[in-house]
Amino acid sequence: MTNQKMIEQDLRYIFHPCSQMKDYENNLPLIPIAKGKGAYLYDFDGNRYLDAISSWWVNLFGHANSTINAKLKEQLDTLEHVIFAGFTHEPAVKLAKRLIKLAPKGLERVFFADNGSSAIEIALKMSFQYYKNKGEVRPYFISLENSYHGETMGALAVGDVSLYKEVYKEILIESLQAKSPALVSEEEALDDMRRLLEEHKGRVASVIIEPLVQCAGSMAMYDASYITKLKELCLEFGVHLIADEIAVGFGRTGTMFACEQAGVSPDFLCLSKGITGGYLPLSTVLITEDIYSAFYCDYESGKSFLDSHSYTGNTLACAAANASLDIFEEENILEKNGAHIEFIANALESLKTLPHVKEVRQRGMIAAIELEGFEPSRRINLEIYRYALSQGVLIRPLGSVIYIMPPYIIAKEELEKIFKVIQGAIFSLE
Ligand SMILES: Cc1ncc(COP(=O)(O)O)c(C=O)c1O
Repeated sequence: MTNQKMIEQDLRYIFHPCSQMKDYENNLPLIPIAKGKGAYLYDFDGNRYLDAISSWWVNLFGHANSTINAKLKEQLDTLEHVIFAGFTHEPAVKLAKRLIKLAPKGLERVFFADNGSSAIEIALKMSFQYYKNKGEVRPYFISLENSYHGETMGALAVGDVSLYKEVYKEILIESLQAKSPALVSEEEALDDMRRLLEEHKGRVASVIIEPLVQCAGSMAMYDASYITKLKELCLEFGVHLIADEIAVGFGRTGTMFACEQAGVSPDFLCLSKGITGGYLPLSTVLITEDIYSAFYCDYESGKSFLDSHSYTGNTLACAAANASLDIFEEENILEKNGAHIEFIANALESLKTLPHVKEVRQRGMIAAIELEGFEPSRRINLEIYRYALSQGVLIRPLGSVIYIMPPYIIAKEELEKIFKVIQGAIFSLE
């Protein structure tokens, strides 16, 4: 099989996500991947690409990781999947126990689903129903401006990236957006949140945030102190705090979970993406005992939480997640990432003075370089994407923001290469 043959067949049958299919005719390459190993992806013609974005922020320990592969193969011969209502299995029980131990204190129960957006839907529905079960109807959720929580209708409704949301505005539930601490001062953002909470007192079920980094919102970053103060506001107004750590969980911001840096325990913690090391779709919603209790009653009361997805708590996905947590433990990953984080900080510093660089920012293993001075119609993200691919690196800028979110097994020389290519990409725009 060759690249060309694969591309022809793909374009005949497949409608790709997050794509304008017409772009694949001339603007965008479509790259058929034959195999992956470590931080590299290999196409059918033998070219390799350094995966600097962990294949949409999911891969933690490289492609075809030998530890995860071995554990998955073992699980595959034992049990691949079982209905999760009325049945359970060892990988799920083991994973739930481990997540509770790792998560901020106070989160004591795990609800499983199978992708990030589903986890958000579950948290929103559960928060709403929590109050309904207690006799209150609270129809509003507050999120931050520039936030992103997924593509299903509820998740889109609480998101605020117009590129994805605008077209559906007539059919989305109404939600409220407070100013983002990544875009205005912390004080202004908190004042705005207070204003909304006061204006809609008794009608808000929860506040939902992406702690520390609004990833799809151009990797906009803010300080942990905002989350600490936001939690106080949530307690003052008696609303839930949902932490969407789907992108930032599992070490991305330097700590296992971003909320840790704020010393905050949310009422809901949504996890996905890196949870399986980037192998299989899985998500979890961790909740407090208080929330769990609001649903625990006789079936006839109508207060049960009946949300379900066919692949909830898939056995293979849970096995991959356990293997991934084994690697965290056995290889001291968070500590080891310290060296990568320092390297990235230095590399960013040297990019600061390049032409068109407006700002560089970093939270742990996430780094962003914001460019300025280009007309949006030029679509420099595509130019940079194509340039980097021609140099063997996969980066996928968000508008005028180049970012990296590499797998943790990345070598220093590979990081060097990524930054060299980013520098070249910036110069190539002249
Ligand atoms: C913060 C955040 N929440 C939710 C999602 C949605 O996850 P999924 O793409 O698995 O539905 C994403 C995906 O990028 C995300 O970054």
